[in-house]
Amino acid sequence: MTDGILVGAASPRSIAGSAGRPGSASETDDQWWRRAVIYQVYIRSFADGNGDGIGDLAGVRARLPYLVDLGVDAIWFTPWYVSPLADGGYDVADYRAIDPTFGSLDEAERLISEARDLGIRTIVDIVPNHVSDQHPWFQAALASEPGSPERARFWFRPGRGEAGNEMPNGWLSNFSGPAWTRTNDPDGTPGEWYLHLFSSQQPDLNWGHPDVRAEHEAVLRFWFDRGVAGVRIDSAALLVKDSALPEVPLQPGPGEHPNTDRDELHEIYRGWRAVADSYPDARILVGEIWLPDIERFAKYLRPDELHTAFNFDFMARPWDAPSLKASIDSTLAAHAPVGAPATWVLSNHDVTRPVTRYGQEDSSFAFATKRVGTPTDLELGRRRARAAALLCAALPGSLYIYQGEELGLDEVQDLPAHQLRDPMYLRSGGEDPGRDGCRVPLPWAGTSAPFGFSPAGATHEPWLRQPGRWAGLTVEAQQRDPGSMLDLYRTMLRIRRTDPALGDGPLRWLPSAPDVLAFERGDGFVCLTNFSPSPIELPAGGSLVLASAELSGARLPSDATAWLRLDRSPTRTSPSGDRRRGGDDGME
Ligand code: GLC
Ligand code: CA
Repeated sequence: MTDGILVGAASPRSIAGSAGRPGSASETDDQWWRRAVIYQVYIRSFADGNGDGIGDLAGVRARLPYLVDLGVDAIWFTPWYVSPLADGGYDVADYRAIDPTFGSLDEAERLISEARDLGIRTIVDIVPNHVSDQHPWFQAALASEPGSPERARFWFRPGRGEAGNEMPNGWLSNFSGPAWTRTNDPDGTPGEWYLHLFSSQQPDLNWGHPDVRAEHEAVLRFWFDRGVAGVRIDSAALLVKDSALPEVPLQPGPGEHPNTDRDELHEIYRGWRAVADSYPDARILVGEIWLPDIERFAKYLRPDELHTAFNFDFMARPWDAPSLKASIDSTLAAHAPVGAPATWVLSNHDVTRPVTRYGQEDSSFAFATKRVGTPTDLELGRRRARAAALLCAALPGSLYIYQGEELGLDEVQDLPAHQLRDPMYLRSGGEDPGRDGCRVPLPWAGTSAPFGFSPAGATHEPWLRQPGRWAGLTVEAQQRDPGSMLDLYRTMLRIRRTDPALGDGPLRWLPSAPDVLAFERGDGFVCLTNFSPSPIELPAGGSLVLASAELSGARLPSDATAWLRLDRSPTRTSPSGDRRRGGDDGME
């Protein structure tokens, strides 16, 4: 059915000046983020400009037209700062410089302004919970005495037990193993321990220390001054710790966890919001917040705190209508009182690719759970991923797309062991397969690796091996195919951009069978997803806008989503004025 949809070539859109589209991002549009489509670039794997097998800024600059054609409003870059790359750049050694593997600060500034000229805003990643062990602050702390001011910026503690051999407490790292590592004193004898909620190369900062606060506000200004439109805040709910460092209770009540979601965080983000609001145009704060308690989650989105946060609840759910409906409802209900828009996320650089996830019997996702060796039906997964894309794009709020999602890439589960470098894999001794499989370099063109990721004559292979089966999934191949995932995403985003019913605003559920999700946006825009095993009739009196799968007559097959526009001419509206009439038929 996608054949029926005209895909106009996207033209550059100006941020400055009104492009005249409903919801278009203009310089004066301070609300752009409420409905924005934000594309996540994992820079090491997006495009390699200089042929060393690693993605870089030159690669991104050369591919900006691709992102314009795709129709995104902003790019979020995973960390591009100087880093020893113990955790893919989430171990930052210098926030004010670009890692030389990627390019230079000067080039980043050029990229930010080139993107702006094309109508695309830039969001950078800020990692406030920890720094790299190579950061000058941590190096200074290691070189200083216990109790020194240098150590006070981190969590250094003596060990327990007579010789200090035992960890200060039993906290565990999010990457398996203990959250403490012992240091050696300058004379080589074992000394204090330091806290790291992630790898040992990522020491946690002490957010009770004034230097830590001042430095991060200065870093925000540094990037805002360079024209970035927002920051994504890494591990945003972890910064503050109970300074007594007590053990984690078995069932901590709200605000009682010693290192997660502490009440003191809100005051920190109020300070950040004041920095963002000191700029004349909107600069946004986006939180990476994994919290099961949606009410506590929404507290971060109060009007003087963060603008939005990733909605991982929806992403983690299995492919199941009642479960997804419950997630949509609780998400919207929790956001409404604070006035923040919801976000919709199907994947990111930490998560099994949706095509793989949705092709498995248990299609739910949880951080740090084993995911190898599960039978996967990629064809089914791809069908569902297409349906999920249309479903998410029709929901109220903003939308995130992780690079390669628009190509329908699957998780690469057979990478050679020597290439794996995710600390989740390494620290678990291989028990957790890690996240490298969703970070494989994008296939752009050609029929064999490096699939245009690196330029012709490149000196190195891509840093992670691309599977041969991706030959059919290159941008080049999908551009020629009107039934491709890329074509679906482009068409979907073009409609989303121009139809005022989509993006921010209310949603109204339409009556439907339990294994069908049907809702209306604006006046007569209907989104319908069929989770049932058999086709369903589309409502009469509507015209098809876009579908994720070929229809058979007026029937929507299993695992598919359709967008419809109801015919609202007076004869079709029931005498009672019940404008839902068209949506009722065939959905029970
Ligand atoms: C976030 C990032 C992840 C990183 C971790 C530690 O969860 O998304 O990639 O490993 O924080 O910084
Ligand atoms: Ca490169």
